[in-house]
Amino acid sequence: MDRIEKGVMATSIALLLVFFGAIVVAATSYGVDVPTCVTDRKPFVEGQAPLKMSDQPLRYEVHTVARMWMFDPPEITVPRGAEVDLYLSSADVVHGFYVEGTNVNLMAVPGAVTYQRVKFNREGTYRILCHEYCGTAHHLMAGSIVVSSSMQEQQ
Ligand code: CUA
Repeated sequence: MDRIEKGVMATSIALLLVFFGAIVVAATSYGVDVPTCVTDRKPFVEGQAPLKMSDQPLRYEVHTVARMWMFDPPEITVPRGAEVDLYLSSADVVHGFYVEGTNVNLMAVPGAVTYQRVKFNREGTYRILCHEYCGTAHHLMAGSIVVSSSMQEQQ
């Protein structure tokens, strides 16, 4: 094998190890969740407002359905510091689900459920945008996550 070829291979392997290491460090030290497709949940076509999990004070579960051309529920309100388990499905075609200002970037696939956990440390309104072309009104497909300061606004 050529010397340069060996060098390129060694560099490639070293880079792969660095990238893999970065994913492991992000997941273990920084709590960065890699989006996943979950198989233990049945796909759903009805959205659900944030459900408070009783075992942990600031843990919420949200079921969001993407459909032409809206997200159901269109607005999700959680208190500051909330850790949200987002479950996403689609009622018709493939949509995207990107939450501005976070690393949430999921695909809404009909007949499947995708999942990502996200923590909201800052108050404000985070727009949800569809990033997968899904028809004539794709550019209007948006929703929002409102992170409020007080717990009183939560039911
Ligand atoms: Cu839904 Cu684009």
